[in-house]
Amino acid sequence: MLLDDKVVVITGAGQPNGIGAGIAKCFSKEGAQVVITDLPGTPLGSTGKAIGGGVIGIEANAASQVEMSAAMEDVVKRCGGLDILVNNAGIGGPTIDYEEAASASAVMSMSDDVWDAQMEANLRTTFSSSRAAIPHLNQGGGIINIASIAALGPSQELPAYGAAKAGVVHLTKTLAMDLAPRNIRVNCICPGLLYTRAWEMLTEGIKQSQPELANMSNRQIFEGIVAQRTPLGAEQTPEDIGNLAVFYASDRARMITGQVVAVDGGISVQ
Ligand SMILES: NC(=O)c1ccc[n+]([C@@H]2O[C@H](COP(=O)([O-])OP(=O)(O)OC[C@H]3O[C@@H](n4cnc5c(N)ncnc54)[C@H](O)[C@@H]3O)[C@@H](O)[C@H]2O)c1
Repeated sequence: MLLDDKVVVITGAGQPNGIGAGIAKCFSKEGAQVVITDLPGTPLGSTGKAIGGGVIGIEANAASQVEMSAAMEDVVKRCGGLDILVNNAGIGGPTIDYEEAASASAVMSMSDDVWDAQMEANLRTTFSSSRAAIPHLNQGGGIINIASIAALGPSQELPAYGAAKAGVVHLTKTLAMDLAPRNIRVNCICPGLLYTRAWEMLTEGIKQSQPELANMSNRQIFEGIVAQRTPLGAEQTPEDIGNLAVFYASDRARMITGQVVAVDGGISVQ
């Protein structure tokens, strides 16, 4: 197996149908000891059981270096070391006032609180969790950051989310240079469209702002967006993201660092 005896921590992996759980399944299949973390109140325990393979769950705020340092120390004690951190924690959801955005400006329709919350959940988490993991990472190990296609071009419906994820892309390249002398590789994945809890919330916001969509389910709205935007014509799955994460983590990618790859069916090429 590609990742025998490797220890991986995946943040924000408490949702059963989330990208984090999909990544966890792919790592577990390749023989890794998987640790998933998420905020209190998320179904971390049942998600871990569903993944199987002795997955360990730890409650911790990925934006808190103190909480994540305690989690990493716990991992090292229980698993004997740390090889890979996957910074997956994040929040999407509607962040603009659609009516105000349509008549004036999306950026003007956002509150400071929403901006700060997006930066904390989507960028600070990557910074703080990485700082907690770096002192423990074994040589030859790595960090894998989950950004978004929203990082790669203007994101009018998600201005703060897009800016935070662009920060994740930039931080990936900085960390890659910073950690190269220790032979720690840092790479990034930009997922496209996946129907997780994040998109359930986003389609709910879209539905409320567009009364003509009232009779459609959130899932149908999502499928319409996928059909309209995706050259390969299909949504992505958490395992599509997990397969690239496994490759980045393996020795097959031993000369790859500071890279950003979109797993998006071609959306970002257009
Ligand atoms: N679903 C998509 O289409 C899509 C597209 C591009 C990028 N992404 C990114 O993929 C990642 C996973 O998203 P998802 O779609 O699986 O959504 P999700 O809502 O199912 O999972 C995100 C998880 O992150 C957790 N989280 C948020 N803030 C946290 C914090 N401070 N500390 C610990 N955990 C925290 C949430 O509790 C949640 O369980 C996110 O970074 C998201 O931005 C998703």
